[in-house]
Amino acid sequence: MRKQIVAGNWKMNNDTLETAALLDALNAAALPEDVRVMVAPAFTQLTQAKTLTENTAIEVAAQNMNAAASGAYTGEISAKMLLGIDIQTVILGHSERRAYYNETDASLAEKVTTAIENGLEIIFCFGEELQERKDNVHFDVIERQLRVALFDLPASAWKNIILAYEPVWAIGTGETASPEQAQEIHAFIRQLIAKQYDAALAENTSILYGGSVKPNNATEIFSMQDVDGGLIGGAALNADDFLKIVMAF
Ligand code: 13P
Repeated sequence: MRKQIVAGNWKMNNDTLETAALLDALNAAALPEDVRVMVAPAFTQLTQAKTLTENTAIEVAAQNMNAAASGAYTGEISAKMLLGIDIQTVILGHSERRAYYNETDASLAEKVTTAIENGLEIIFCFGEELQERKDNVHFDVIERQLRVALFDLPASAWKNIILAYEPVWAIGTGETASPEQAQEIHAFIRQLIAKQYDAALAENTSILYGGSVKPNNATEIFSMQDVDGGLIGGAALNADDFLKIVMAF
């Protein structure tokens, strides 16, 4: 059975004081046992977040990592460094990294390979831009993103893959994909995985939706058959909003 997951991508938000305040508020809540709850703080707050969530069910993920094992890559962080502070999950392929830091399907394939080789779990983000949806090529775009970055992996690697469909036009815009639009894409993705691998693997893969998920739309989106949770940006910075989304299944 695939897992329901709500992950908060904090992006470049929350310094030491803000991280403490937000995690204190999350720790004070009773979380549902059947939902994995994750937060992804900035690199500088990962150790703090690990300490503050010790003995809780809240998991801590990183937002990025480098594909290389080590070397002359100023400003970068390796898989081994993440593992060294007991981070087991990393977000890869976020549209902001693709847009501002030139990450491509091909460079992401390298990061994915490194993460899998190191035993890290990946939340892999992908999704079409507005013009691509208008041009009706969004299915092709999504298929290419998955094929190049993930479909060369052996089936055994997929126990460490969580997918996050994030249509770029819905990120931080207040415009959400309708539940039906999300379901249509999620079902398409599951069918691609079934064709590339097999039906059981497709059924067991969690596919999250991301893009302006808020307390007032989470229940409707999460009720869709192939939507297994959400990757939350803005609403993850507010404890009440994030908790309402965690409870929205
Ligand atoms: P928003 O929820 O702010 O639209 O961000 C979504 C996102 O990018 C999560 O990774």
